[in-house]
Amino acid sequence: MSLSELTRHILFLSTLLIASNANAEVMSANLGTPLTFAEIERFSISVYPDGENLPEGQGTAEEGKMLYRQRCAMCHGKSGTEGPSHRLAGSVGLFSIWDPLRIKRIMETNGLLVMSTGQQWPYATTVFDFVRRAMPHTAPKSLTSNQVYALTAYILYLNDLIIENEVISRINLPGVEMPAAKRFEEASRQE
Ligand code: HEC
Repeated sequence: MSLSELTRHILFLSTLLIASNANAEVMSANLGTPLTFAEIERFSISVYPDGENLPEGQGTAEEGKMLYRQRCAMCHGKSGTEGPSHRLAGSVGLFSIWDPLRIKRIMETNGLLVMSTGQQWPYATTVFDFVRRAMPHTAPKSLTSNQVYALTAYILYLNDLIIENEVISRINLPGVEMPAAKRFEEASRQE
């Protein structure tokens, strides 16, 4: 190999090296500053169906009632049925074309079958999770754990699933049986 050929090779290789370095820079994901454990904790609020990750705290439907009137009723109605937002309680449930009372039920719901949270959600723990992360709609995550327990208890009480002064906490919330859980199990058995 002549000297000029060697120089050409070296030049070519160094160009490749520079190019690959430049590429590495361009391809860096540049994801920013890693979050601290405390910062991650604030967002790590998912509660699982079996109650895993439920926080300390407690509340009763009695306590939740007042809070509900102040912070929820304007959207969900005084008894959780009137709306205008989602119905939390008191829906007619599922009915079929063979249901002899279907005309009455359709008329009661203005022609629409409106399922409530109490009828539709398979786990009471998910009600807690949702209220804590998303409600009230105008100020999500503004409620304390005790307030969320009390409001969850109130929604369960409106659906006749617990009594008014039952103290709801991480111990017994996962054990509250929701009517929808059975339907979910039946549907998955049929698959
Ligand atoms: C400003 C109106 C507003 C207020 C106030 C409000 N909500 Fe809601 N809520 C909504 C809307 C809208 C949805 C539907 C949101 C969605 O699907 O993302 C909803 C959904 C829900 C659901 C789920 C309903 C379902 O079956 O899908 C629950 C439970 C709930 N709200 C509870 C509460 C509680 C408890 C409070 C009081 C702390 C509250 N909401 C305050 C508007 C409101």
